[in-house]
Amino acid sequence: MKTNLTSKTLIFYLISQLCVFSVTGRESSLKSVQIVFRHGDRTPKVSYESSGESQLTNEGKKQMLELGRFFRKRYGTFLDSAVDRNSVSLISSDLDRTLESASAFAYGLFQNLNEKSSWNNEGLLYEPIPIQSIPKRIDRYLQSTEPCPRYTEQLFLASAAECTEGIVRENPEMVNEFTKVTGNNVLLDPTTSAVAKVDAIDVIAEQIKYNISNNLPLSEAGEKLSRFPIIFDVNGKCQVYLLNSVEKQKLYSGPLLKSILDNFQTEKPKKLVAFSAHDRTLFGQLMILGFVPPETPPTGSAIIYELHALERRSNQMFLKIYFRDGKSQELEQIKVPQCGKDCYLKQFLKITQDVIPVDFIKECQKL
Ligand SMILES: *[C@@H]1O[C@H](CO)[C@@H](O)[C@H](O)[C@H]1NC(C)=O
Repeated sequence: MKTNLTSKTLIFYLISQLCVFSVTGRESSLKSVQIVFRHGDRTPKVSYESSGESQLTNEGKKQMLELGRFFRKRYGTFLDSAVDRNSVSLISSDLDRTLESASAFAYGLFQNLNEKSSWNNEGLLYEPIPIQSIPKRIDRYLQSTEPCPRYTEQLFLASAAECTEGIVRENPEMVNEFTKVTGNNVLLDPTTSAVAKVDAIDVIAEQIKYNISNNLPLSEAGEKLSRFPIIFDVNGKCQVYLLNSVEKQKLYSGPLLKSILDNFQTEKPKKLVAFSAHDRTLFGQLMILGFVPPETPPTGSAIIYELHALERRSNQMFLKIYFRDGKSQELEQIKVPQCGKDCYLKQFLKITQDVIPVDFIKECQKL
């Protein structure tokens, strides 16, 4: 039979095969996009400068402005130039740096709206964009600060402590020096959790890095600890242990994923939901997506979730998920395990159902 094929039918045959391979092609349309980004560059958690602790730097503002512009470029035709309150939401954790990041992102994203602004007679080209924030006490989405005893309990389990305990065991000199110069016993204290240990080291590691890159002198403590390169790796190395089980992912990262999926499943999804969040917010989502980054997602990094519908069968929804690295600004499509790059929503719901909380308060109770 093959021998009867004319070149024309052969070409037709090839084209039809190509179409089968691509779910998307031109046959689909974007319905909704949601983005979770890490705030821009910030000063260290403990800072001696007048600009304060953990504040967005000018570099950070530029990063977020750029991310907003990137979004405008990518979704310009999809997002109306007007901010439709019903179809756009900007949601931030309740901290200066994330609120400011959301604000700079919004400015970049709606720059054309700013340029057309005519509400004031001072020639001011600025259009305020509303940003909602979630108070810490009830934030189970972005900072995960809402109390969850079961999650905290999980952090004391051997699997979570493995990493910090290993580091403590293998670096006795560093631990000694740390305890001496900081007067903080946390690394040797069996009653403090792995996450408290990681954070204690990271606080000082950040300051040292910040001082070095800004040509500030190191304190005596900084000088002494900077001789142990391990302190700069603890956060990146041990973070994975905070989220390396289905249960931890469900309690720490599940509520945000649920919110994203709920929006995608409403009859008329919001066109854009942007979440201004933190490194661990992104890290947790990436763990769920089987896309474990080798280090903490750099400032300005983002995960982008797109919902598409097939043109002919609009009930057939599928997702495209991307990671944008804040440092390299490279955009990489994530291949979802057991689903692929273009992942049907139905299938995505199935493979993530174990990390979606059903009754968060109840599931957070200690067993
Ligand atoms: C960083 O620099 C500031 C300002 O000079 C200083 O007060 C602080 O102790 C330094 N921190 C470290 C860890 O060296």
